[in-house]
Amino acid sequence: MKIGILTSGGDAPGMNAAIRAVVKSAIHNGIEVMGIKHGYKGLINEELVPLVSSDVDGISEKGGTILKTARCPEFMEEQGRKKALETLKKFEIDGLVVIGGDGSFQGAEKLEKLGVKVIGLPGTIDNDLAYTDYCIGFDTTLNTVLECIAKIKDTDSSHEKTTIVEVMGRYCGDLALYSALAGGGEIISTPEMKLDFHTICTKLSENIGKGKNDNIIIITERMYDIEELQKYLEEKLNISIRSTVLGFVQRGGNPSAFDRVLAGKMGIKAVELLMKDSSGRFVGIRDNKIIDVDFSSINNINDNKQKEYDLLKELL
Ligand code: ADP
Ligand code: F6P
Repeated sequence: MKIGILTSGGDAPGMNAAIRAVVKSAIHNGIEVMGIKHGYKGLINEELVPLVSSDVDGISEKGGTILKTARCPEFMEEQGRKKALETLKKFEIDGLVVIGGDGSFQGAEKLEKLGVKVIGLPGTIDNDLAYTDYCIGFDTTLNTVLECIAKIKDTDSSHEKTTIVEVMGRYCGDLALYSALAGGGEIISTPEMKLDFHTICTKLSENIGKGKNDNIIIITERMYDIEELQKYLEEKLNISIRSTVLGFVQRGGNPSAFDRVLAGKMGIKAVELLMKDSSGRFVGIRDNKIIDVDFSSINNINDNKQKEYDLLKELL
């Protein structure tokens, strides 16, 4: 048996640990592994390299992905996917492990429909895949966000100032929500619990009224123009406010122990599934158990996330 592995979409800390686990577990079970460079682009352009155990030694602790990653518009077209299928046939790949986020999974599902055996591992800092409690990379990024906010808090506290902090997450508020829950912020606005400018201003004004002049307002990206929000608050409250977009610092760094272990367990599960001839499954973790769900059921469990938000918002 020969399997392929690729990382796709935005990179996430822990992707390397997942690659390592898949390679080690496959080789342990007598399976050959081909690494596909640059995600789906590499599948179309035949960028395949054999991976042996020594290729993945020591990579768990490194951020990014040794296989590189890419966004591949060509793969969105049927023609591109057909080319990818030809490559898989040419290299006699019996099964494919796709590590990526929501978009990569949609691509994986389409590839599966062409008859390819595919298993998906959730690798995204956004944690926006509702079927799993955690995606690989989220924990590391959450810790990075908290570290950055702690630094901002030091200077905010000295100057008695408020800062708006914009975090990543694409259209998912988990990074913002969990950062606030972990003590990083006083006011939070996410796509799931969106506050308008007026409400943010009222909350801030209340805090200032109680003598809390240094506040952190955490917002998820893509919701507002951060400078517009800053200007609005400054004008309404007649104070000076700072704003910081954390940006790509959030995607880098050595993965946390949690992400490495999670990636390791998920990688082993992916190989186990391929050996059982399973296909069209996404690996995840729910209630501390490694699970796998069918591609088709992925959209039916978004309710879980909303329930979690309803519960957690009481803690804010
Ligand atoms: P992520 O996987 O991190 O969400 P993207 O959304 O950019 O990142 O998706 C990564 C890649 O997956 C895209 O560049 C494209 O090649 C493929 N992809 C995304 N959505 C689809 C889709 N609907 N159909 C086919 N392929 C897709
Ligand atoms: O999906 C991961 C992510 O970092 C999102 O949080 C962010 O919106 C997006 O990728 C940024 O994408 P790009 O690397 O294309 O700028």
